[in-house]
Amino acid sequence: MGQCCSQRRRFLGYLSGALGALGLGALGIPFLSAWWPSKKTLDQGAPVEVDLSDLPQGGLITIPWRGQPIWILRRTPEEITQIKAAMTGHLRDPNSNDSMQPEAAKNAYRSLREDILILVALCTHLGCIPSYKPEAGSVSPSWEGGFYCPCHGSSYDLSGRVFKGVPAPTNMTVPPYEFLSPNKVLIGGSA
Ligand code: FES
Repeated sequence: MGQCCSQRRRFLGYLSGALGALGLGALGIPFLSAWWPSKKTLDQGAPVEVDLSDLPQGGLITIPWRGQPIWILRRTPEEITQIKAAMTGHLRDPNSNDSMQPEAAKNAYRSLREDILILVALCTHLGCIPSYKPEAGSVSPSWEGGFYCPCHGSSYDLSGRVFKGVPAPTNMTVPPYEFLSPNKVLIGGSA
């Protein structure tokens, strides 16, 4: 049993947790296979090319890269407006000075394009997979939408910026990536 298989098993564990959290399990194998890279790509830890043509506004997909789950979210116009209006005083590191991300993504959106967010889908506390909770009030009465980690209650805004007063020490990690065209992104490529 090689390293590739154990990485794949670990990732499937991550992925089933993410799907359960997002309620996407019912979409089944066709949904997964559409974004599943080839075995050769996974074995080599090479950059992964993803076609975003079918990703709707508000849609979030999870793809594997180097044994980690990677989220790609196409934000809605309302989510983009919400980030612009964010009360940054509640955020621990609003400008991502202490958090890992490519230089080109050092902005409020933490992304190269304001409509596409790409994150390593792991809580920076102890590595659970947070849930995407875009609906206001879905976590607490004051919740405005973002990502919530059910393990120990860490919460992040819609850019993956961590709120003050939770266990997670830093913002969620942005992996290196680049756009090859408006609907094609290369995860693991230079940013
Ligand atoms: Fe997310 Fe602890 S692992 S809050």
